[in-house]
Amino acid sequence: MIDVFGLSHKDSGPLSVTTGADRNESSTASPSSPGRRGPGHEQVVFCSDERSGLYAIIAVYSTALGPALGGTRFYPYESEQAALADVLNLSRSMAYKNALAGLDLGGGKAVIIGDPSRDKSEALLRAYGRFVESLGGRYYTACDVGTYSEDMDVVARESSYVTGRTLAHGGAGDSSILTSFGVFQGMRAAAEHAFGSPTLRGRRVGVEGVGKVGRRLVDLLLEDGAEVVICDVNEEAVDLVRRSRPSVEVVADTAALIASDIDVYAPCALGGALNEATVPLLRARVVCGCANNQLADPGVGKLLVERGILYAPDYVVNSGGVIQVADEIEGFNMERARARAAQIFDTTAKIFALAADDGVPPATAADRLAERRMSEVGRLRGIWLGR
Ligand SMILES: NC(=O)c1ccc[n+]([C@@H]2O[C@H](COP(=O)([O-])OP(=O)(O)OC[C@H]3O[C@@H](n4cnc5c(N)ncnc54)[C@H](O)[C@@H]3O)[C@@H](O)[C@H]2O)c1
Repeated sequence: MIDVFGLSHKDSGPLSVTTGADRNESSTASPSSPGRRGPGHEQVVFCSDERSGLYAIIAVYSTALGPALGGTRFYPYESEQAALADVLNLSRSMAYKNALAGLDLGGGKAVIIGDPSRDKSEALLRAYGRFVESLGGRYYTACDVGTYSEDMDVVARESSYVTGRTLAHGGAGDSSILTSFGVFQGMRAAAEHAFGSPTLRGRRVGVEGVGKVGRRLVDLLLEDGAEVVICDVNEEAVDLVRRSRPSVEVVADTAALIASDIDVYAPCALGGALNEATVPLLRARVVCGCANNQLADPGVGKLLVERGILYAPDYVVNSGGVIQVADEIEGFNMERARARAAQIFDTTAKIFALAADDGVPPATAADRLAERRMSEVGRLRGIWLGR
């Protein structure tokens, strides 16, 4: 087996490493949610173009349901190992997310190592596009942290396998529109399960992080009649909400938010919001937000159950964004994409029911459901079509 970790940034040319079942993945990466089961990644590709400064890793976790789709994260990782761990973890999450979103798409992700504010250039993005193209459609890319629709327009000049482009280029545009809508649908399902009615009217919802998604979620909540309390480390983000929505209450930080008298906690900032320190302090009965990888480790799912807190699995409720960009592959139609994202309500409700039946945390039930679809539908590829 090739030692992918022995490669330094400089000496690694384009290299495709196919990882199989023999790979002891847990010793090389520390995936969090979804769970650690599964056969391992299908393919991990290292892409390097010295002149443009491109150094990227594309990971395809599974193509059981179709080509792998997942965004490109442009981030100044401390080391290649940190970048690899992240892309392995994120690509696996995408497989589960796409499976439960009902898409005919597998899971993949890419990372570009570097500081986007300094290193991003036309040449780098186009070099990256050529590597995406070289995979022949096994991987479709999209935006993620550090990349925007305008960047995807540039990548698309070299590759047909790009989503999340601007509306002007036939793309789906800002994915936070359906991400926030989907989280709201998941929250309605959670409200029905926890409080007996699928409305947030009269409930107090704490939104941590009012960036692109959190801000839109606040609007949906207020329209539904909820009281909203927010926090954000960025004063500008807070001011933006305060100006347009004066009824929103602002608290100093996450600690104040989770300790306040809220019914629902919506983590919409970074991963790891739910951990052994925060869960015991949480007063909310429901957790439902857009942030990826909210559970610091799988054991936190049990902790939430023990405290009687209903957790709507992150990758289920935040799949509206991928539903939006995936629609681009068919030729973007917002109404069709919105109808698909509305189904997040039913999927979330189904997961809560399955969790209750099986006596497991909702995160485990979601993993099981995703694995079942990957297995049952993926298996059909084995039926010979005679051509
Ligand atoms: N944008 C999408 O379509 C999408 C889709 C799926 C998942 N997500 C996930 O949802 C989360 C938010 O995405 P976004 O697009 O809104 O990002 P964003 O960068 O626009 O917003 C994040 C906000 O969180 C704030 N924040 C950061 N650390 C914080 C802290 N400790 N306490 C309070 N606020 C803090 C930031 O200042 C920012 O305003 C991310 O985890 C992202 O991966 C986003």
